[in-house]
This record gives sequence, structure tokens and C-alpha cells, in this order.
Amino acid sequence: MSEKSVAYQECINPDCRGQFDCAQTLVKCPSCGDLLDIRYDWDKIEVPGKISDFAKRWATRDNRLDFSGVWRFRDLLSFCPDESKVTVGEGQTILQQNDALAKALDMKPGSLFLQYEGLNPSGSFKDNGMTAAFSHAKMTGAKASACASTGNTSASMALYAHSIGMKCTVFIGSGRIAYGKLSQSMDYGGHTIQIRGDFDDCMKQVQDVCAKLGIYLVNSLNPFRLEGQKTIMLRIIEQLGCDTPDWIVCPGGNLGNSSAFGKAFIELKHLGLINKVPRLAVINAAGADTLSYLYNEKKLRWNEGRVDQSIIDAHYADLTARNYSPRTCASAIEISRPVNLKKCLRALDFCNGVVLSVTDEEIKDAKAQVGLYGLGCEPASAASIAGLKYLLADGTVTPDEKVACVLTGHQLKDPTVTVNYHKDEEGPFSNPPVEVENDLDKIIELMQS
Ligand code: F0G
Repeated sequence: MSEKSVAYQECINPDCRGQFDCAQTLVKCPSCGDLLDIRYDWDKIEVPGKISDFAKRWATRDNRLDFSGVWRFRDLLSFCPDESKVTVGEGQTILQQNDALAKALDMKPGSLFLQYEGLNPSGSFKDNGMTAAFSHAKMTGAKASACASTGNTSASMALYAHSIGMKCTVFIGSGRIAYGKLSQSMDYGGHTIQIRGDFDDCMKQVQDVCAKLGIYLVNSLNPFRLEGQKTIMLRIIEQLGCDTPDWIVCPGGNLGNSSAFGKAFIELKHLGLINKVPRLAVINAAGADTLSYLYNEKKLRWNEGRVDQSIIDAHYADLTARNYSPRTCASAIEISRPVNLKKCLRALDFCNGVVLSVTDEEIKDAKAQVGLYGLGCEPASAASIAGLKYLLADGTVTPDEKVACVLTGHQLKDPTVTVNYHKDEEGPFSNPPVEVENDLDKIIELMQS
């Protein structure tokens, strides 16, 4: 590794801590196979003194990097030169104080906030990570990219690849992704390969394919991607007037987001940019609850980086023996072998976190409530609200605590789940359409009934 780099890759395994130059394209530690982090020599970086200083860049938003809601915070992810930075205007997302939904959940006004990541260019939080991964890909001269996906990663990858004329291949499980997402990657020119299997099968295949063919992998195993996703937390803090909420609640799938959020707070605390670290709640779908099972039942913990791998191996061997494939209506988080598990445990450790799982019915009801009171979201995103209901019910979260739920994907990503919920009157918030004859009197009669 060159002496002067301000950023470098480092293995998270405390018994290894291998360090590698950012010019290398790695997705796992070449020495021990563990996950990699991007680390910074903070003494060599001029980081603004206050989080509010980043917001001032909004005044110079005709500069494409100041416009980006990710690169506005570039000092906190300074692993590549400005000329390599690839942006399509990601991160223009809002934190909505939602008192109506708060009331429905018996929370105090001013306590519930929804971070709408569905407002990103490809309609999900993935763009925060993809801008960073593609910037690294450009810096290293990558010629082609690939990912396994439950849909949003592929949509986002295809958008960014397309924006710089790079070839990309999407690996999806046959019949496992929502049409809104599939339509995007096809439209953006992604080469789509449907594997007869689930996300975990695709994830394994894509790693082997990328290693064999020298293709740039953009799944969240890629540590550069997570650097971009840190900025979701920065935007929340910024929008709360530089205050940190008491809680961050997010859905958990491959566990890249929760890992990135934890890393953001570790770094912000280290830099003195925040005083208080929020607590983190990661919500699994019941049909894809590896994290919840290992954390709550098996008491798997970060343990200063020495995670008990035998617990994970035993669980995965059991899943294989039972030929288990995860199933949930929240297809985005239909994952049972989350690649960022260890980093998520680190985040839970640092943020005094909790994990729980929610049923599909609970997800669909919560989704309908987000639609009723807010800007709407896709099923996986609503897991955060469904999980929050449990945390309020058992007193883990009190009604006056400030809670920021991350709504990870846009409402239009998965219209099938939404339409079926309403049309088939699946839950208390169903709002079915009513059919009437093509007759004025009958229409008026219906409207007045
Ligand atoms: N919410 C949405 C809308 C997602 O698309 C995903 C993941 C998650 C939550 C879970 O985030 O993996 O960071 O824990 N989607 C991936 C994909 C797996 O391929 O689009 P995570």
C-alpha cells in the first residue's frame, strides 16, 4: 500500500487487519476472506468542523458534486479524485416529519420522521451506494459490472452503468423480483440473467462469475458502495437541524444499509461531528429472518470483531439441509444469507441495537399506512414501520423519542403487492376500487351512497 494514501481498504478481522490500496478491486480480504472496510487517515483530510457546513454547499449546487446528496459529504468518503466521481443527482431525498402517522401509532407529534429514499433517481436508496461504487469502478478502469439483486440494486446499477456507457449484467432469481424494478434494468440496457434459484444462489454465482471474468461487482460486499450509503444518516442529521435522532429504524436484507449506518456513526463520533449515537433497529421479514434468529435466539454478537463463525455456519448448514429458500412479500429483503452480517453486528454493537422480524401481513398493513399518511413506499421499506409498532408496544421506544424510519424504496416499485392488498381487501387499510355500470345515474348514486 502506498505511504501517502488518505484512504485504504482494511480487513475487519482483528486477527488479520490486512491493508490494501484503494486502487485494487477487491470484495473480500485476499489474506483471510473476511469483509473489507474503507478506512481514512483523518489527520490528512480537512473535514468541515460541523455537519451544517456541508449544507452550505447547497448554495453552489451548480457544481455537480455539491448538488449530489452523497458527494456534498465527499470529505467523509474521500477515496477517489473528483474527476472519477460518477453522479446522476442522487440523494435529493427528504426527511418528512409525519405527525399523522405518528398519531396513528400513538406517538407524540414531532417524534416520527420518514427518510424517503424512494426519491432517488432509480427510486431506491441503492443510488447512494452505486454512485460511490461506480466512482471507484471508473477510477480503477473497470470495463463491465455485475450484481445479484432482488431488483433495486440491479435497477440502480443499470442506471449508473448506462450513464457512463459501461456494460452490466444483472443476476436475478426467476420470478423473485417486482416488475417495477425489472422494467428499470431492462430499460437501462442491463443484460438480465434469470437464475432458477433465489437471491442467495444469485449472490454466490455472481461472485464466482466476477472473479473468473474480471467483472466489477457492485453488490454491497463492495466496501466502496457502503461509503455512499453512510450519507443517508448525514442527511437525516442535517435535516434534524444537526441533531441525531434517538432511533434509526431500517429494514434488513443483505445488511449493507445497517452496516453503512453503523460505520457512519462510528466515524462521526470519532470526528466529533456528533455527540449522541442513535440506537439502531434492524427489521427482518419473518420469512427471511436470519439476522433476527442469530441475534435473538443464538445471541450472535460482534464480540470486538471475533464473531463466532461456527454459529453462522451451523445455521447455514441447517438451511441447506432443509433446502430452505426465504419467502416474503417484501421481495427486496428475501435473503437468508446476508453477506454483510458481521458488519451489521458491529453496527448493532456500536448503536446499542435491536433486531426483530415482522410478518407479511404486518408489512402490508404498515405499507398501506405509509401510503395513507405519507409518500408511499415499497413493502420492504414498510418493515421499518411494522417493526416500530412492536418497539412501541413493548416500551423499547417511548412515544416521545425521535425516530427516523428509512423508507428504502419508492411506492411504484412493486404495484402488485399494493394492488392486491387493496383489491382483495387483505387488511384493515384496504381501499378497494368499486365497479359500476357506465351510467351517469348509477355513478352518482354510488358516489352518494
Ligand atoms: N429495502 C429495499 C427497498 C431494498 O431493495 C433492499 C435490498 C433492502 C431494503 C435491504 O437493504 O440489503 O442493505 O439490508 N435490496 C437488495 C437488492 C438486496 O438487490 O436490491 P440491505
